[in-house]
Amino acid sequence: MSDYDILDHAALADSLGTRAFRYVASAASTNDLALAWLREGAPHGAIVIADEQTAGRGRLGRLWHTPPGVAIAMSIILRVTVDTAPLVMMAGALAVCERCDALGLPAGIKWPNDVQVSGRKICGILPEAVWQDEKLLGIVLGIGVNVRMAFADDLKDTAASLEPLAGVPVQRAPLIVQLHTSVMGWLVQSPHAIHIAWRQRLQTLGQRVTVNALNGIAEGVQTDGALLIRDDHGVLHSVLAGDVFLEQG
Ligand code: BTN
Repeated sequence: MSDYDILDHAALADSLGTRAFRYVASAASTNDLALAWLREGAPHGAIVIADEQTAGRGRLGRLWHTPPGVAIAMSIILRVTVDTAPLVMMAGALAVCERCDALGLPAGIKWPNDVQVSGRKICGILPEAVWQDEKLLGIVLGIGVNVRMAFADDLKDTAASLEPLAGVPVQRAPLIVQLHTSVMGWLVQSPHAIHIAWRQRLQTLGQRVTVNALNGIAEGVQTDGALLIRDDHGVLHSVLAGDVFLEQG
């Protein structure tokens, strides 16, 4: 941990004020803790934060690394309706883009929700839902931000950290508050406004892509976040999850 970036219960209590939160120095996954708290009755907007994750989860069953002192691992509990559910990941990505803007870093979104600066991923987002029978109890919005993570050579072209890019010290506690405020602010906007803002940030549109072995032009997105790909036979496909690979050259 750097001496100007203390992340502990006292620092967070100071920054988060009356917001409901739980902090642990080390968690397997903040999403797991938040999913449990959601089931126990946590209020809308409650947050779980860890300095380190030992079994952080990424999309599509991947691992997400959060060593101590170098990243943000936070999960926001959102008591939203089924209609609003797709907007949650959009609000998360938009909130991170706005913090990049504030640091002078031009940010965009690689579908569905990787926030990138200069084509390198600085943040991953993992929404997970909790259902009781047919009823959605809520969604946990997991946000992982690389603040001063060092990357091995094989990842240097695809991943980056905010602090070295911005060239200024970044403190995690205030950044967590700003991200939380921004997510909650987006979620009281109209679905249309959220969708339009997310779409404007999407760098994938108009590009030739491969997703789930499907190759074509990323032509648009649906309101549920699905990517629309036009294949070379002119057929339009809707893809709800997957990794986008851009055609090289
Ligand atoms: C991705 O694959 O891009 C999504 C990564 C999401 C990581 C965050 S860190 C906080 C929260 N807890 C987890 O276990 N995962 C999410």
